[in-house]
Amino acid sequence: MGLYSKYIFPRMINLIMSSGQMKKARVSALANVSGDVFEIGFGTGLNLPHYPAGVKKIVTADPNPGMAQLARRQIAESGIEVDLRILNGESLPIEDNSFDSVVCTWTLCSIPNVGQALREIRRIMRPEGRFYFVEHGLADDPGVRKWQNRLTPLQRKIGDGCHFNRNIKELIADQGFRFEKLDNFYMKKAPRVAGYMYQGIAVKA
Ligand SMILES: C[S@@+](CC[C@H](N)C(=O)[O-])C[C@H]1O[C@@H](n2cnc3c(N)ncnc32)[C@H](O)[C@@H]1O
Repeated sequence: MGLYSKYIFPRMINLIMSSGQMKKARVSALANVSGDVFEIGFGTGLNLPHYPAGVKKIVTADPNPGMAQLARRQIAESGIEVDLRILNGESLPIEDNSFDSVVCTWTLCSIPNVGQALREIRRIMRPEGRFYFVEHGLADDPGVRKWQNRLTPLQRKIGDGCHFNRNIKELIADQGFRFEKLDNFYMKKAPRVAGYMYQGIAVKA
């Protein structure tokens, strides 16, 4: 892992992803999370203040140790016990059917083999488990899509693997999920190429 990914990118993410509108999306995405919780792409721990009061412990996966280093500060302030694991979401050393809730926020854009990661998420969910997500991705507007496709090669470099043009709905549905809830919207203060959101809850189909 290069110096940019380990030291600079986590600090950028910690700043950019702390905006008021992102906090609002985190609050609504996590409102019903309960039981045994797994968070994939934990980043710098920005979801921690927004878990419902009933959540006392979570297990997390993120392959970037630079993210984990910043996350430790959030963890210390959170009152939630966090089992912080440096792991690639494409291969989780976790038993099948282990979690009631799996959480993923603004991460499916960056995982190289995102289909494999979604299969892992589904595998570790209990039969009645729920997958809570808020992600940016491919827009509904052809004009925005055109720019998303054009700018993704550059964004992958700046954003440490991030794609603007992933169809999050299709990617999730293709791995054997059905949607209990799915909202699409543009985040108001974000550039439209990065601001088309998919927020919802998916269960095993
Ligand atoms: C834009 S950040 C979002 C961080 C956090 N989820 C949040 O909402 O603030 C994307 C995160 O995905 C993580 N990530 C990238 N590849 C991954 C993988 N293969 N498995 C799990 N997480 C990954 C990155 O390390 C980074 O922390």
